[in-house]
Amino acid sequence: MSEKTAQISWMPSGEPFSELFQDFYFSTDGGFQETEYVFLKQNNIVQRFLALQEAPDDTVFRIGETGFGTGLNFLVTLYHWLQISDLNCILEYTTVEKYPLTKLQLEEAYKTFKKTWPQLSLCCDELLSQYPQEIAHSDDSSSSHQIELFDGKICLNLIINDATLGLKQLLPTEKTMDAWYLDGFAPAKNPDMWQMELFNTLFALSQSGTTLSTFTSAGVVRRGLIEAGFEMSKIPGLGKKREILLGVYPEAKI
Ligand SMILES: C[S@@+](CC[C@H](N)C(=O)[O-])C[C@H]1O[C@@H](n2cnc3c(N)ncnc32)[C@H](O)[C@@H]1O
Repeated sequence: MSEKTAQISWMPSGEPFSELFQDFYFSTDGGFQETEYVFLKQNNIVQRFLALQEAPDDTVFRIGETGFGTGLNFLVTLYHWLQISDLNCILEYTTVEKYPLTKLQLEEAYKTFKKTWPQLSLCCDELLSQYPQEIAHSDDSSSSHQIELFDGKICLNLIINDATLGLKQLLPTEKTMDAWYLDGFAPAKNPDMWQMELFNTLFALSQSGTTLSTFTSAGVVRRGLIEAGFEMSKIPGLGKKREILLGVYPEAKI
């Protein structure tokens, strides 16, 4: 059995580079803004959080993600959640990561995060204080870490597994996501993840009102998500990215 954790090289600027996938974890040109644009804006997250102010206490808003990586998408989401001070709802963030960062690697990444995006400092420290010391898993097993932050108002469900296998474990719970962040390296560099079985699993864990977005506009992803049942559109990208994808669960026809 071999253990699998992230194989990272650190750029002089402190940005993590995956040796396994030969790619950067996030845009070296404004990762925070890219996360806000690709994942939060397209899923209309801030407006949906604001609407929760009118929802009954203990309403749960669920976000699902493929590829937790350094947790940047989670931290930016958490940052926006905390901006709305009077929320009594629960944010449940479920993410699947096949090659998790060790706690030491996360500490290294967050040194740069805190310098570059000081507004994330509180969230970085809170996550680091709860991140498991032992995160590795073996080839033939998966593990799941339930991490509670900020007095239990935020539940991070960190599943260590392949995205499809990890998400399939949720099917019997019938918990559906309100929004999906489809991250993971580009399909050309990571074809194993972007498979029909993943797209079908995402659809099975969605419901009316569920939205999804992803940084890629690759045909294989767009066609696969349409085949699974989502309505997909191309949206202009940010910076060098020409286009990204937005998906919605179709409304039932009366
Ligand atoms: C682009 S990085 C994640 C970026 C993330 N937003 C961050 O803040 O670091 C993609 C992540 O997907 C993970 N990944 C790649 N293939 C996967 C798979 N089949 N299942 C689950 N995670 C996978 C990688 O290990 C990596 O952590």
